Amino acid sequence: MTSENTAGQSKQVALGVTGGIAAYKTVEILRELQKNGCRVRVCMTPRACEFIQPLTFRAISGEHVVVDDYSPDNPDPIAHITFSQTVDLLIVAPATANTIAKFASGIADDFLTSTYLASTAPVVVAPAMNTTMWLHPATARNLKRLRDDGVTIIEPEEGIMACGTTGPGRLADPQLIVRAALEILENGKQTRPSDLFGERVLITAGATREEIDPVRFLSNRSSGRMGFALAEAAQSRGAEVTLVAGATTAEVPANVRVLRATTAEEMRARVLEEISNSTIFIGAAAVADYRPITRLAEKIKKSDGHFTLTLEPTPDILAEVSRTRHEGLLVIGFAAETIDVVRHAREKLKRKNLDCVVANDVTSDGAGFDVETNIITIIKPDDAAPVTLPVMSKLDAAHRILNEIKDLRATRDGALKEGQSIARA
Ligand code: PMT
Repeated sequence: MTSENTAGQSKQVALGVTGGIAAYKTVEILRELQKNGCRVRVCMTPRACEFIQPLTFRAISGEHVVVDDYSPDNPDPIAHITFSQTVDLLIVAPATANTIAKFASGIADDFLTSTYLASTAPVVVAPAMNTTMWLHPATARNLKRLRDDGVTIIEPEEGIMACGTTGPGRLADPQLIVRAALEILENGKQTRPSDLFGERVLITAGATREEIDPVRFLSNRSSGRMGFALAEAAQSRGAEVTLVAGATTAEVPANVRVLRATTAEEMRARVLEEISNSTIFIGAAAVADYRPITRLAEKIKKSDGHFTLTLEPTPDILAEVSRTRHEGLLVIGFAAETIDVVRHAREKLKRKNLDCVVANDVTSDGAGFDVETNIITIIKPDDAAPVTLPVMSKLDAAHRILNEIKDLRATRDGALKEGQSIARA
């Protein structure tokens, strides 16, 4: 494949290298881009030069490698402008937590960060860093900002790190980075496909509150992040989204229709009002399983001795949606587990007759309630091998869940067509 721009010239790629041990892998990225007909110019942060010499990239690219645009050997005195405005794509690999943070806040204190700000070309960022840095909420926040700004993030892999620990943070496979880059160069866009166009997705998120008296309630720590991430992801892929949200602390995604509900009973009512107009239902809310049998009109007075609260089960919204579903509706549940995660999740999948269940061990670090990341296992009926994913942002987890739902839809449509042709034969 040869990458050419609309004028028939080879595509111009800027390749930014930052200071990480994976910097040597950028050589493979450079070579692969060249093999695919791209003209590649490299820029490096000063720290990157401690891991690999600019000379290596200069020899392979045949171009001056910019580290400091104020340096006397720089042939172009305003390189951060000319360089940034003549490229079709900017790739940063490896991208350190520091560079990602600077991109997210618009800091331009070296050649690469100035280039990022001065460029209107699409940007691909391939992070690589120590696992703890990768999992830090500040990094997750910065990456979310970059995604919101339209940057394509190529998630790092899980594996043994240079420091000897095992976890996510290793630079993604260079071939994968190049493939993503070429796709953007070919299609001239960096957005995800509108592969959910035509779907109407109803999602529950957050916690319900079951009142005990005028000042107290039973609830849980759900922030709404997982459900909001699903809403944001589905919307970005062309779906029409409605959120039914209980109590939440996370920021509601922009431009999504949100209906509020406090109790399980109210959430059930909102869902049942909306369900006939939906094609996909995803229950990501942490709905209280029990509520007080009576809500006391007056605040309970403190007294000595034990106090007994009698509870009754709340309506199971997910089970009801599944039981009364109309043709074509896909029903996806979550399972918040603390032990024997897959076994219990499978049991919920069967009992509630779901198309798919997303299990999360809510006791694991970086998973479950009120954190930016999740560790999920996606289980489908009769699926011998559940898909267990490493820790990732809730937005990335949401996209992985939607990918599975898309496959489910394709299988259903295929089976439907087959059934129709057998009936016609
Ligand atoms: O909101 P975050 O802070 O991002 O946290 C995310 C999360 C941990 C809440 C989310 O990932 C999650 O696991 N959601 C489901 C929580 C839950 O209630 O799980 P469960 O195993 O108790 O319930 C199973 C399923 O039945 C869920 O889809 C739940 O929405 C649904 N349910 C449960 C009880 C009930 N009365 N009605 C329901 O619809």
